[in-house]
Amino acid sequence: MSERSASAVLAEAAAAAGYAPSVHNTQPWYWRVAGGALYLFADRRRQLQNTDPDGRLLMISCGAALHHARVSLAAQGWTASVRRMSDPADGDLLATVTLADHVGVTASAMRDFQALRLRHTDRRPVSAYGVPPIALEEIQRAAGGEGVDLHVLKPDQVSELASASARADHIELMDPEQRQELAYWVGGERAEGTGVPDSAIPHAPLQTVVPGRDFVRAGTLEAGPGHDKEASYAVLFGSGDSPADWLRAGEAMSATWLTAQQLGLSVLPFSAVIEVPATRETLHRTILEGIGYPYLVLRIGLPDPDHAGAPHTPRLPAEQTVEIAD
Ligand SMILES: Cc1cc2nc3c(=O)[nH]c(=O)nc-3n(C[C@H](O)[C@H](O)[C@H](O)COP(=O)(O)O)c2cc1C
Repeated sequence: MSERSASAVLAEAAAAAGYAPSVHNTQPWYWRVAGGALYLFADRRRQLQNTDPDGRLLMISCGAALHHARVSLAAQGWTASVRRMSDPADGDLLATVTLADHVGVTASAMRDFQALRLRHTDRRPVSAYGVPPIALEEIQRAAGGEGVDLHVLKPDQVSELASASARADHIELMDPEQRQELAYWVGGERAEGTGVPDSAIPHAPLQTVVPGRDFVRAGTLEAGPGHDKEASYAVLFGSGDSPADWLRAGEAMSATWLTAQQLGLSVLPFSAVIEVPATRETLHRTILEGIGYPYLVLRIGLPDPDHAGAPHTPRLPAEQTVEIAD
């Protein structure tokens, strides 16, 4: 054991996990440090009950938080052992993390940790240059390292995604309860530390091939007149479609995003097509040709070089998401 106690190391990892991306910035996780272990729970109070009744996006978000905690442990020099969904009687206990060996900090662990602090969702148009194939391969390897596949869409599949995405948005916005949920989580300054603030939403509708989520309001984020024509679209997918698979998908999403960040690329998740069962099925049958279940769509691109990115979105204070019982 190093000079710091296991409890302090694990608490720091749980606090760093707070930087993880989550659907509508709901941060639907709760951490408990007790008896030399770190427990990750789903916090159903921040589940999108109408938009995400099965908790898919909640699990993906919690998976991202779990991966962020793992990155923090590596940046503190520790290897960790992780048991996922180990209690059949408690589906909300998502993972138990314990410290394994103190191996010291590697340069790659530090780069991952720096990327964790810099990463953010970029809803601006991408630049006029495409993503180098070699970069996409590296991002695919990052997903593969977490046991999840990443399929990069071919041009004809991007058109299929565009129509599925428009359909998903339309279906969601026709539903008054989903509209209400969206309005609850999106817009304003978000002083309470959750949700998507106006500062992260473009000030005007963008020209896009694939429509991004319609937040039904203009934000304050300056965005150029660019397009998404040079963006790459990719689907994270795998052979299972259970909560445990969605958790792994979230870990893979975090790993791909931190890799993209280090390659100077911007990432924007698209989840409406996953939330709506009919369009999720379209992705499964057409784009993935039945070879796997889609977990999340990602737009990957070179960031707009002419405008500043959005400021970081707020987060809940660690005291509200991390309990230290030791
Ligand atoms: C599972 C998941 C689904 C998401 N879906 C969307 C989406 O459909 N549209 C969008 O603009 N952002 C989406 N996001 C991005 C979140 O809104 C974003 O992570 C959150 O607001 C925190 O901001 P940050 O990523 O800049 O830290 C998604 C994120 C996650 C993890």
